[in-house]
Order: sequence, then structure tokens, then C-alpha cells
Amino acid sequence: MKITIIGTGYVGLTTAVVLAYLNHNVSAVDKDSNKLSLLQEGKSPIHEPGIQSLLDEVCRTIRFTPTVADVVPEAELIMIAVGTPPKMDGEADTRHVEEAAREVAQVCLPNRHYTLVIKSTVPIGTNRRVAEVVADVFAERNIQGNISVASNPEFLQEGLALQGAFYPDRIVVGANNNEAFDALRRLYQPILEQTFDAPTMLPRPPSYHLPPMMTTDPNSAEMIKYAANTFLALKISFINEIAGLCENVGADVTEVARGIGLDSRIGKKFLRAGLGWGGSCYPKDTAALLRVAAQADYSMPITEAARTVNFEQRQRIVQKLRTVLKTLNGKTIGILGLAFKPNTDDIREAPALDIIRQLDAEGAYIRAHDPIAISNAQQALSDINAAYINVDFIEDVHQLSHNADALLLVTEWDQYHRLDLRKLAKNMKTRILIDGRNVFSPKEAIAAGFHYIGVGR
Ligand code: UGA
Repeated sequence: MKITIIGTGYVGLTTAVVLAYLNHNVSAVDKDSNKLSLLQEGKSPIHEPGIQSLLDEVCRTIRFTPTVADVVPEAELIMIAVGTPPKMDGEADTRHVEEAAREVAQVCLPNRHYTLVIKSTVPIGTNRRVAEVVADVFAERNIQGNISVASNPEFLQEGLALQGAFYPDRIVVGANNNEAFDALRRLYQPILEQTFDAPTMLPRPPSYHLPPMMTTDPNSAEMIKYAANTFLALKISFINEIAGLCENVGADVTEVARGIGLDSRIGKKFLRAGLGWGGSCYPKDTAALLRVAAQADYSMPITEAARTVNFEQRQRIVQKLRTVLKTLNGKTIGILGLAFKPNTDDIREAPALDIIRQLDAEGAYIRAHDPIAISNAQQALSDINAAYINVDFIEDVHQLSHNADALLLVTEWDQYHRLDLRKLAKNMKTRILIDGRNVFSPKEAIAAGFHYIGVGR
């Protein structure tokens, strides 16, 4: 199929690359000239495992352009995957989605049928508004255009985006007409039937089952996306709440998570207690859902509580440091990990940034290490503060502990699991290890000479 994807962020680029790999004829539009020139040179602007090597394979088949008019008229299916940033009150701003829809309607040919797919995460009812935008443009152009609008929310996880795209649990499509369902079924047919040759670096998981394509109405599809993210966010907040109680009563949350996770109704995933969620999705989407609820005159205390618990985790960890060190003023703290989660350089809403701000406000000296997110963190810390936060960014993780008063693990990068704790402990002023993601075995940390403090254990 001939497909145009508007927006080449995490979702747009991953989708473009995967659909091109599945032999669709893909073009991608982005207004960001820096991103576009990288892509035109075949370089991925995002850090995502596997994306560069897949891009190497398919980039010559994808047309990257800044102009909708170059590619949309000939396309059969157009996907909107632009950002929906939060407004001041948390509401998702759909301006870019509507703009993209308007541009599409302005250049599409009157005698052809198009399917316009909304992949961006959008408030409930956006599908209808996009259909109205399209109808308005057709009225201005005085044509009888033919565009079916569909909602096709994306569930990919950063760091695992390609797995999520090739081997999804489900594909959700919301539309009011069969043409859109048919077009999306044809688009995803190789994935629904798993008829493609798996990329060498991403073999099909042996236990993988064919994914269902769930069809529904557009409002429900839009709601599914918010409900899925909010449910996962509150599952994590729940285990973090239990973790706090474990600390007070002498239980180990990792054991508790194991024990409840074995119940198939609960499931073992997303029960890792720690510093909670960050990233570009849960913080933004839970806030946006609360705005949707407020506008519908409805209260959502569970969602609100999930947010409160989540952001308190960042304060609780600093409190633990304060308690053990008596004061943070003048103390040197080494931060292990800046990215909001491993395998990405994304630092949006990352717990590390909040923690660094708190430590800085109390007069601590901060050193920080991350395998790939240092330059993004540097940028973020200089953007947001008028008063510059002084962080010593360290490339060699072992230098982090030199004369430090405490180490604080924030992101559970694989390489941290394998750290030589004895070597780290050796040069420290005081051997304190706060493990914000329960990565280390308390026994091993203690044997290495650390005063070990985890989350909920
Ligand atoms: C999330 C969803 O998992 C995706 O399905 C969705 O498509 C995406 O948002 C989106 O809306 O675009 P993502 O934010 O990339 O994906 O990452 P997750 O793997 O879900 O992790 C989110 C946060 O939760 C991370 O900060 C992670 O450290 C934290 N987390 C995760 C925990 O604290 N404990 C856990 O057990 C699992």
C-alpha cells in the first residue's frame, strides 16, 4: 500500500520503518529540518535499539519530505503521528493533529478515497473533530472529497519499540465505516498473520500468538489508549504504595510482587517497585485523562492517587538520603542513571532530573552517569533553570564513587546490574548505596561494605 506518515518521532519513525520493512510504499513528512536531513542521510534521530540497522535496510525505499503536498495526493492511507503536548492545565493539545488533517484535506484529490489514521494519543472526541476539520476544508475547496477517519492508538514502549511494532499484543482500530477497517486490515495483514520474515536481530518470540485486530468505535479506541496507560501507571503506583508499607512493617516488596504476580489475574509485569514512572507518556496521559474527566464533570480519585504516589517516590528517596547523611549540604552524591528508563536517551519527566533539582536545592554536589542520556540531561537541566544546576557528568562509572558520600541508582541500566560493588565502595567517603530500582542484592551490597537502602525491602 502507498502510505504517508506525518511526524517522525518515536511512533512515526518506528511505524514508517516497520511498514517499509513489510514492503509497503512509505513516505514520511516532518517539518523539523534537522530531523529530516538526518533521515535523508539514513541516520536515525532517535536512540532506539535496532532502529538504525532496520533504517539502514529500508531507508532508500522511504521518501522523507517536509511537504505534505509532495506525497499525500498519491497515498492511499495517511497516518498522523505528531505530538500532542500538554497544555498548562494538563489537557493534550491536539493543534498539530488538526493542522496535519487540514493540510491533508487541502491537497487530497477529489476523485480518490483516502483513509486518514490518527496514531497520536488524543483526547476522546478528537476523531470527530478531525472529521469536521476535513469536511470544512472540502467545503472551502468546494469539492466532494472522500476521506475515512480512523483511530489506531499505538502501544509501543520506548526501548522496545520494534518488538512492540512487529509483535504486538493487539491492534486497536476505531472507525465508523468498513472502508477504514478494511484499509487497516490490509495495512497490518503481514503482522496479523505474521507472514513476514522476522528481522535477524528481532526473531519472532517462540511463544508469540497471532495478535487480534480489535475493531470498535472511535471514541472507545481513543479511550483504550488512555485507559491502558493509566492502568499500567496505577499498577506501578500500587506496588510502590505497598513498598512503603513493606518498609514500615519489615516485609520485602520484591517478594510480595513475586507472590501476587503469580496470580494469573494480576500478572507479574509492571510490579517493579522503585522510583516510579517518568517518560513522555504516563505523566502526560494521566494528566490529560484527568482533564478529559474534569471536562465531563467526573472525578477520578484512583488516577489522581496514582500520580500523587508516583511523584512522592522521588521525594521519599531524597528523604532516605537526608536521614542517613543527616544533611545533604556539602555532600557529594553520585547518581547512577539519568534516562527515564533503560535503553533510551529520553530524559522527559525522568525521576533523575527531579532528584537532582532537590539535591541541588539542599546544597549537595552532584555527579551523574548515564550510558547515553548525558547530553540530553545537560540540555534539560540548563533549559529549565534560570539558576544553573551544577552537575558533574561522569563518563566512567567508577569515577562516580570517588570520595562520594553516597550513590543513588535511579535508572536500572543493564550495565549497572553487573557493577563491581567492591570496586565502587573502595574509594567512597561513606559507603552508602541507595538503590532506587532494587537492582542489587542487599546481601551482596552489604558484603561489599555498603550501607544498603532499597525501595520496600
Ligand atoms: C508506555 C506504555 O508502556 C506503552 O504501551 C505506550 O505505548 C507508551 O507509554 C506511550 O503511550 O507512548 P513507555 O513510557 O515507553 O511506554 O515505557 P514503560 O516501559 O511503560 O515505562 C514507563 C515508566 O514506568 C518508566 O519510567 C519505568 O521505569 C516505569 N516502570 C515500569 C516502573 O517503575 N515499574 C515497572 O514495573 C514498570
